[in-house]
Amino acid sequence: MKVTTVEEYLKARKNIVDDALDRYLPGEDNFPGVIFKSVRYSIFAGGKRIRPILCMASAEAVGEDRETVLHVACALEMIHTYSLIHDDLPVMDDDDYRRGKLTNHKVFGEDIAVLAGDALLTEAFRLMSKRELAGNIPADRFLTVINEISEAAGFLGMVGGQVVDVRSEGKEIDEKTLNYIHTHKTGALILASVRAGAIIAGAGEYELAALSEYGRHAGLAFQIADDILDIEGERELLGKNIGSDKSRGKATFPAFFGLEESRRMACELIDKALSDITMLDGKAEPLRMIARYIIERTV
Ligand code: IPE
Ligand code: IPE
Ligand code: MG
Ligand code: MG
Ligand code: MG
Repeated sequence: MKVTTVEEYLKARKNIVDDALDRYLPGEDNFPGVIFKSVRYSIFAGGKRIRPILCMASAEAVGEDRETVLHVACALEMIHTYSLIHDDLPVMDDDDYRRGKLTNHKVFGEDIAVLAGDALLTEAFRLMSKRELAGNIPADRFLTVINEISEAAGFLGMVGGQVVDVRSEGKEIDEKTLNYIHTHKTGALILASVRAGAIIAGAGEYELAALSEYGRHAGLAFQIADDILDIEGERELLGKNIGSDKSRGKATFPAFFGLEESRRMACELIDKALSDITMLDGKAEPLRMIARYIIERTV
């Protein structure tokens, strides 16, 4: 596959992820139909698939085939989509649009939206722990990855970040708290996505350390970019309402540091992410493209 632009690369990779998700998720004709409809509605509403794409790109950067990590990549997208469905609930950010469509609870009701999130989170772990999908890779690598992803998604990671995010609404917070929110609610799963691909691929100690630093820097930059887009992004491109952070008094980088300084910080983080992986060869080129895209994106 000859790739000329990051957009083409991401589109091709998104198609691979979407096809696999469609295969892994039960059809809407299963019983009880509403849960499969609700889950598929949010999964296939859109989405950039950045986490699964990072997981595959990281495996490829250390010489493994992307197919080897495809089910783990899809599991990461399921966990992410669950987090979005719950994030949009009236008791959380109370948002009406996501991925260019009405949010899950607006269509299926809050009861089913909560359950769709629960189902996606649980299904992700069922998928990652399937023996028949491990191929020739030693099972202990999957065990390590499942442990890391659990940590990144749970109260030590994303859930912890979301707790402090909702409890900081309308409050004066310090820089340490702001960093905690962003590195946990978003950074942790992005870091885990990069590490998962590398661990399954059997990365050496130095490669894994370099990729981890890359994931840490890119993950924080990703949420700063999300904060900036909530101010100056276009609703039609983003597929979600803008201005919702300000109206809820959210703890964001632009609210704390201002737009200019936030942009500078995000750029600096991406520069760091790029220099973290200078020791990796041409196989890491997609990771470099994705890093630049994180701060240049409009979606
Ligand atoms: C949005 O994530 C929420 C954050 C964690 C910043 P994405 O920007 O990856 O959303 P989708 O998956 O493309 O819809
Ligand atoms: C979302 O952060 C983080 C998670 C869903 C874990 P935001 O609340 O900023 O995401 P958007 O802006 O609604 O996509
Ligand atoms: Mg939120
Ligand atoms: Mg939100
Ligand atoms: Mg946001």
